Amino acid sequence: MLTVVTDSPDEAAEFIRRGGIVAFPTETVYGLGADCFNENAILRVFEAKNRPTDNPLIVHVAELEQIELAAAEVTGSAQKLIERFFPGPLTVVLRKAANVPSVATAGLDTVGVRMPRNAATRAFLTACRTPVVAPSANISGRPSATTWQAVLEDLDGRIDCLLRDDPTEVGIESTVVDCTLDPPILLRAGAIGIAELRETVPVISEHKQTSGDIARSPGMRHIHYAPQARVRIVTPADVVNDVESSGYIGIHDRAEDFAMKRVCDSLDEYAKSLYEFFRECDRNGLANVYCESVEPTGIGSAILDRINRASEK
Ligand code: TXA
Ligand code: MG
Repeated sequence: MLTVVTDSPDEAAEFIRRGGIVAFPTETVYGLGADCFNENAILRVFEAKNRPTDNPLIVHVAELEQIELAAAEVTGSAQKLIERFFPGPLTVVLRKAANVPSVATAGLDTVGVRMPRNAATRAFLTACRTPVVAPSANISGRPSATTWQAVLEDLDGRIDCLLRDDPTEVGIESTVVDCTLDPPILLRAGAIGIAELRETVPVISEHKQTSGDIARSPGMRHIHYAPQARVRIVTPADVVNDVESSGYIGIHDRAEDFAMKRVCDSLDEYAKSLYEFFRECDRNGLANVYCESVEPTGIGSAILDRINRASEK
C-alpha cells in the first residue's frame, strides 16, 4: 500500500473518516491512529505495528466533551487531573463506555484517555470528528518514533497516511494514571512526574507491579523502547571499554572516544533525544548504547523507566 505523506491535518483526518489508519504527531511521540468506533480500522493498527492484541490503546480527544464518548464515568480524581493537565502529556484510565470496541482496550473494561496539546494534533483530531485510538507509531518492541522519518522507517507501506510535523517536544510517552481506583495509581511514568501529579491529587500512589496486579497495565509487561543495540546504564564513575562500537547519551560529557555521543543540556533534552539516539545507533550498527543514569525526579523517573526497560532486553 502507498503511504501518503502530508502536512495537512485535514487531509490526514479524511483518511480516518474513511476508515484508514494514520500516523500523526503529538507532544510526546508520534501515534498511529484509527477511528475509535471502527473495529476494522483498529485491527489494522494492531496488524501494522505487530502489536500483541492484549495491549490496550489510548483514546485521543480534541475536546473535553469527547471524553464522555469514550468513558462511562469521570471519577473525582480524574476530573481534577483533567482540569489541571489536559491538554498535555497525561493519560487517565477510566471505566470504558459501552460503544468503544473491546479490541481497542484489549478486552479491559477500562480505557485510557488523553488530549494532546500541540497545534497540528489538535487540528487533526478536530477534523477527525471522532475520538482517535492510537498506540505509538512504531513496530512493537522498537523505540517509539519522535520524528516523521522514524515513523516511515518502521511503517512506510503499512499505513494509509502520515501527518508530517516537527520532532516531538517531549520525546517519551505520556504519564498514565489509573483513576478507576481509590487512591489512583501511577501506571507509567512520563513527562508529568509523581510530585507534580500529587500537587493536584495528593493520594496518588506509585505503582509497584506485583504478580497479583500484572493485568492492570498489560502493556508494561511487553518489551518496550529497545534498540537492536544492547542498552547499558552507566554513571560517570563507571569505566567503559568497548567505546568504538558504542554510543553514549547522558547529561555529563565523557572523555572516551565513543562512535556516537549525545551530551544533553538538561533532563528534558535527554528525554527528547533518547529514542532518536537509539535509532541512530541502530542505523550505524553499533553494538551498545550507554545511557547515563539520572535522579528519579520529574521527567528523570520516566527516563530511568525507559532505559531500565530497554536494558532488560
Ligand atoms: O504519549 C503517549 O501516550 C503515546 C501517544 C501516541 O499518545 N501513546 C502511547 O501508546 O504511548 P502505547 O500504545 O505505546 O502505550 C499505551 C499504554 C499501554 O501499553 C498500557 O500500558 C497503557 O498505555 N494503557 C492504555 N490503556 C490502558 C488501560 N485501559 N488500562 C491500563 N493501562 C492502559
Ligand atoms: Mg508504544
